[in-house]
Amino acid sequence: MRVPFIAGNWKMFKTGQEAVTFAEEFKEKYKGTDIKTAICAPYVYLSLLKNLFSGTNIKVGAQNAFYEDEGAYTGEVSVKMLEDVGVDYCVIGHSERRQYFGETNESVNKKLKRLLAGAITPILCVGENLEQREKEEQYLVVRDQLVGAFAKIEAEDAQRIVIAYEPVWAIGTGKTATPQQAEDMCEFIRNAIEALYGEQVADEIVIQYGGSVKPANATEIMNMPNIDGALVGGASLNASDFMEIIDF
Ligand code: PGA
Repeated sequence: MRVPFIAGNWKMFKTGQEAVTFAEEFKEKYKGTDIKTAICAPYVYLSLLKNLFSGTNIKVGAQNAFYEDEGAYTGEVSVKMLEDVGVDYCVIGHSERRQYFGETNESVNKKLKRLLAGAITPILCVGENLEQREKEEQYLVVRDQLVGAFAKIEAEDAQRIVIAYEPVWAIGTGKTATPQQAEDMCEFIRNAIEALYGEQVADEIVIQYGGSVKPANATEIMNMPNIDGALVGGASLNASDFMEIIDF
């Protein structure tokens, strides 16, 4: 039985004070729901959010991590460090990291493997850009991203990965994929996982949709059979909007 999981991705937004204000408002509103949730925040606020959300079911995620545990890698943060501050989730391979920071299927695979060696749950992002969609290459692109990301990962670990399908053309553009377009790709992803790992893993793996999810479209998206959750950027910055999405 897959439990819905709705995560916020704050990207590079909010000051510490704004994070505190959000957390206080969100904690009040979140009471009484069984939907799983997490806020994926910039590194510098992870400890702060862990403290603010302690004693609640609200989890905290990072937006990236490096696969080496320590070393001369100026500016990087290791999975080991995230484990040390008690982070629950980590987004890997977000399209903005692939586009602006040179993330590749190979580095995504290394990061996933390191996360799976510990207890942090990875949220693996896949998705095609506009040009690829226009050329009708979206299924090939996503398949390649999946095969690359899951290389040499065993079934029991694979099952722990949350997959977020985020078409790049729908991120931050206000242009949502139609619920059917999102469902078609999430079904394709589930079938691809079945081909790699069999039916049981495919049935259990959680697949989110991301890209301009907001209160007005959350219900339709969440009602699709192969969509188990959402990765929410812009609308997760506001506690009321994010809570409305969780209450889809
Ligand atoms: P958006 O971002 O909801 O602002 O489109 C989604 C994401 O990039 O995770």
